[in-house]
Amino acid sequence: MKILVVGRGGREHAVVKKFKRDGIEAIFCAPGNPGMHEATLVDIEETQADQLAAWAKENDIDLTVVGPEMALMAGVVDAFEGHGLKAFGPKKAAAYIEGSKAFAKRLMKKYSIPTAAYGEFDHTQVEDALAFLETQVMPIVIKADGLAAGKGVVICQTLEEAKQTINEMLVDASFGEASARVVIEEFLDGEEFSLMSFVAGDKFYPMPIARDYKRAYDHDEGLNTGGMGAHSPHPLITDEDYQQALETVIKPTVDAMMSEGLPFTGVLYAGLIKTADGPKVIEFNARFGDPETEVVLPLLETDLSTALLELMAGKDVEMKWRSEQTVGVVLAAKGYPAEYVKGVPIKALDTLEDVDIYHMGTDVVNGECVTNGGRVLFVVAKGADLAAARAKVYHEIKKIDCDDLFYRGDIAQLAESSEASLN
Ligand code: AMP
Ligand code: GLY
Repeated sequence: MKILVVGRGGREHAVVKKFKRDGIEAIFCAPGNPGMHEATLVDIEETQADQLAAWAKENDIDLTVVGPEMALMAGVVDAFEGHGLKAFGPKKAAAYIEGSKAFAKRLMKKYSIPTAAYGEFDHTQVEDALAFLETQVMPIVIKADGLAAGKGVVICQTLEEAKQTINEMLVDASFGEASARVVIEEFLDGEEFSLMSFVAGDKFYPMPIARDYKRAYDHDEGLNTGGMGAHSPHPLITDEDYQQALETVIKPTVDAMMSEGLPFTGVLYAGLIKTADGPKVIEFNARFGDPETEVVLPLLETDLSTALLELMAGKDVEMKWRSEQTVGVVLAAKGYPAEYVKGVPIKALDTLEDVDIYHMGTDVVNGECVTNGGRVLFVVAKGADLAAARAKVYHEIKKIDCDDLFYRGDIAQLAESSEASLN
């Protein structure tokens, strides 16, 4: 069995590590990162669809897993299928569930999938968008339609701020083509959670719930980031919430894609908010979430490549999950998500025990591991419960010797105290 993973971050490292644990010897990652010791790196960019497919064909790759949304929207899965190769991920036409917020909103409206009320406007409708804002209550959420590397969502507290955001996106094209159209949506209040499912056509297999922490500093202060930590499961989300999300969101969405003639194969990620009226969708992604994947995949007992190949062949599969729980903490370069330096040595990584270390942004220079990005490392511990996993991960990361890293101290703290109060 030869496997290729497309992408270069912590998420892809988690997929690579899972295959390694399953006993796969030949694992390749394009382009990968130098911290991924379990994989052979292939020097092809994620979005070079034809080159990736040609390389996979030449090297007899049996299964490819595509990480980033940019790769999906560049048609990587379509290119692989064109070469008769198996790539787990949606084709471009189905990846629009992430690649266009307007597409996702229209789909949800048509199939009565619970989500925030909204309006949709393109760059020829600036006046209409501004008039619509006048009729709305604040805060309000404005989203660039297309992919904007996680930065295309603005929560506006005042009407002035909302109008300015509309002008920046639609008139000044602050996100280029991606903001030539916007979605303006109702602000939803409640606990957020992430629910990923393995999907093939009309079959879906949900993963355990995860929660990620998006703000840079403790107690959700500071700027939004790509994620500073995560855990699985999420004690504030009950089994009932989980079942309700499967019934009212995941199943209808999988069926809707079939009805639209866009059957979805890959990981469907639902970003949800638990509201007083039940779970509502804030976003769909067409791929594994980052950093959720790093805390969820270690809990999968089933052999991943077998499961994915069977799923893609239309068979029923059994997904077994461990009863353990995980907590992961990101170590980021000081200054992130604003300016930061690269190239600072990271020492003593090999002294950490019984945790997974996922490389998000590192490099190897003269045999030494150095920082090479905003989010640098993601350390994940398993435990019988979140409290045990949390204690372990914070104990272990203290051993990392690097002057230039910071991390949040409150990952899973809320979960821990609510666990205590529930018991
Ligand atoms: P996204 O880039 O779509 O993941 O959105 C970024 C973050 O904005 C989400 O994780 C939420 O915290 C927040 N968000 C997006 N849409 C809404 C909404 N309708 N109401 C409240 N918060 C939202
Ligand atoms: N954790 C959110 C995402 O993967 O986009």
